[in-house]
Amino acid sequence: MLPSHGANPHALLQQLKVSEKESLLDFSVNINPLGTPESIVRSWPEWKESAFAYPSVRAESLTNGLASRLFVEPDEILVTNGAAEAFFLIASSLAGKKSAIVEPTFVEYRQACEAFGCQVMSVPLEEKEGWKWSLSLLLDAIPLVDALWVCHPNNPTGVMYPKEQWELLLEKAKIYNTTIIVDEAFIDFAYEPIDFIPYLKQGYPVILVRSMTKMFHIAGIRLGYVIASSSLIASLAKRQPPWSVNGVAQQIGLACLEESSFVRHTVQFVQKERQWLKNELELLGLKTSPSAANFLLCSIPKGWQSREWLTNLANEGIIVRHTENFRGLDGRFMRIAVRTRKENEQLLRVIRKAEATVQHAKEIGIDP
Ligand SMILES: Cc1ncc(COP(=O)(O)O)c(C=O)c1O
Repeated sequence: MLPSHGANPHALLQQLKVSEKESLLDFSVNINPLGTPESIVRSWPEWKESAFAYPSVRAESLTNGLASRLFVEPDEILVTNGAAEAFFLIASSLAGKKSAIVEPTFVEYRQACEAFGCQVMSVPLEEKEGWKWSLSLLLDAIPLVDALWVCHPNNPTGVMYPKEQWELLLEKAKIYNTTIIVDEAFIDFAYEPIDFIPYLKQGYPVILVRSMTKMFHIAGIRLGYVIASSSLIASLAKRQPPWSVNGVAQQIGLACLEESSFVRHTVQFVQKERQWLKNELELLGLKTSPSAANFLLCSIPKGWQSREWLTNLANEGIIVRHTENFRGLDGRFMRIAVRTRKENEQLLRVIRKAEATVQHAKEIGIDP
């Protein structure tokens, strides 16, 4: 089986039986192409002291810092060991209940729901609809479930849904007491994000999950947080092991809060580079999703099967995210992270070379 997540290039090479390469360009990991803020790298030696003592049990300073920046109360925030921990805490609070998931999407919601015996219903997204959700299907699903999971922008499509439609959904969710869980792991990359906090303040049943991993390029640190009503946060906090977020992570999180100009610069960089990459891919005849995030869902060129295509790229030192375990995609697409111009050009060169090989095979009468 291919690795169930991106960012696993060596396992992918092994599965594809491709020999290790001297250098690899990993487009399967959706992380800031500009790296970690300089201040984080510089302050690293100071933070190692935090490894020798127990950290704050509930990451108090970071909670307070987040609360004041987001204009919420500290008891409306729970800092977690990555957004991934949040999904499992939320699913545990829904144990045995019914959830709907807008799919294809990040596979962990389903995994968390299944781990806690939730019944899961899928609300499918379609390529022919530009990967937009079907509002009518969602409105029909709300009365049938206790919770609805939406990734926004969605991984792997990068699509965001219109504010007016969200409002209709929230209204109906309030009537039926259905909790809407919005995973905003990639919201920092969006140019015009919807602010859900006012809806939370007005009592709509919404839980926001965020990650610091993606924007700040700190996947190994494990840092995320939940924003929800104080009663929901209290119920999630009861399920969270003490010291779940380590001391170094807490310090780094505080430093990230000071990095608003790095965030602004990244958003502009990614927006420009994503548009450029999208145009180039489409000039090659590939279809890409209307993404607001730092990645694109892209069709696999005609004449290639998923494994052959991945192997071909891997042989050239390029790793993309396969889509074999995304519900409804079944490997017909690849997810490509937006990287720097030079790296994106390298990807395009490899795709052009593959296209030329197929063209040549056709010309000499071989069925590729
Ligand atoms: C949509 C989405 N949400 C959450 C996560 C996990 O984030 P974290 O590293 O904060 O656990 C990922 C990781 O790839 C993701 O793609």
